[in-house]
Amino acid sequence: MRILVGITAGIAAYKIPLLIRLLVKQGHEVRVVMTPDAVDFVSPLVLSTLAKNPVVIEFWDKKTGEWNNHVACAEWADLLVVAPCTANALAKMAQGLCDNFLLATYLSMRKRTVVAPAMDLEMFQHPTVKRNLERLIEDGVEVIPPEYGELASGMVGEGRLPEPEQLAERINQLLGMRQKLTGLTALVTAGPTYEPIDAVRFIGNRSSGKMGYAVAQALANQGARVALLTGPTKLHLKHPLIEKVDIETALELYHATQNHWPKVDIGVFTAAVADYRPIEPKSHKVKKNEESFELNLVRTEDSLAWAGMHKQRHQYLVGFALETEDGSAYALDKLHKKNLDAVVLNVLGEKGVGFNSDTNKIRIFDKDGSDVAYPMERKEDLARRIVDHIILNK
Ligand code: CTP
Repeated sequence: MRILVGITAGIAAYKIPLLIRLLVKQGHEVRVVMTPDAVDFVSPLVLSTLAKNPVVIEFWDKKTGEWNNHVACAEWADLLVVAPCTANALAKMAQGLCDNFLLATYLSMRKRTVVAPAMDLEMFQHPTVKRNLERLIEDGVEVIPPEYGELASGMVGEGRLPEPEQLAERINQLLGMRQKLTGLTALVTAGPTYEPIDAVRFIGNRSSGKMGYAVAQALANQGARVALLTGPTKLHLKHPLIEKVDIETALELYHATQNHWPKVDIGVFTAAVADYRPIEPKSHKVKKNEESFELNLVRTEDSLAWAGMHKQRHQYLVGFALETEDGSAYALDKLHKKNLDAVVLNVLGEKGVGFNSDTNKIRIFDKDGSDVAYPMERKEDLARRIVDHIILNK
């Protein structure tokens, strides 16, 4: 495919030579356009060598006296990738300004454009930047969201350009497939619940939320608008199509499910919900006066079962099961009892599988009787498989 890489004047431009090398290695044809100030951050010589094509910066090539045609440049490309995209470039693109070759090329693009904003934390959180990004999304521009991490200023937060490998992966996704869930909506539950015992203590579990966040991201990458109902996690996720709804207890999750489920097309319930909660949590901190302490527990509300009970014809519902033994029988039982369309069984008991790890091993059972086992993979890859299953069977 023909990829036009547009570089603007951000410090993260240092990652772009590696991105270009990767894309070329993967068989893409790459050309580069830069804003005039971007040359202070990365050398056009390095870029043109790696891209195996000349780099265009100005409308007018002073050496040859030739005019660079932005319309032809835009026509050539299957995808324009603006990375890093500074706040300034974002603002100009959102307003339709074209005081440099890159911006004129963007305005001439008839195929897709993707931007990868990268800037400091405060800048990325500024309402004008958010507004400009929203406007670009409305204009059909795709966004590769910045990551959370250390920034050039030394601050830690959101604003970091993803690594070249991840950028290349997203670019390939965008090129390889039309988004298949555009116009649809989804609900994903993720993470643990905390059930209060008193003012400071709770019953919780070790769920990291990684699987649910990865599923939300995979659904959004396919164009679905996602409500992510999440218990307390350390994860950060920013995607223009994902709305995060924080919950803490099983009851809050239940209420949020009742609010969102009737409005969506797809549900994926990955949350590790406490099965029991203290009947009467104390509002003060309990003192250790007695030798023993009794805690009376009561069953929590089952959000997934509620969703299954209120499922409409157009809705596709996926539950998770975590089992140590005779997994398939329990998983199938869940599928039928909770009126699911598919159940994902986490096969526990192996290293690298489960709650807090980055990898997992799953089996997907569908209500049509199919049963597919996947090898151990990163949760992001498994999330994509789950979403592919939904796309195929919905
Ligand atoms: N779930 C839920 N609300 C609950 C409990 C579970 O939404 N209160 C969802 C989970 O997100 C998961 C599925 O239901 O998708 C898990 O079902 P569950 O019967 O709780 O599984 P286990 O706890 O593994 O079952 P058991 O206690 O029978 O071993």
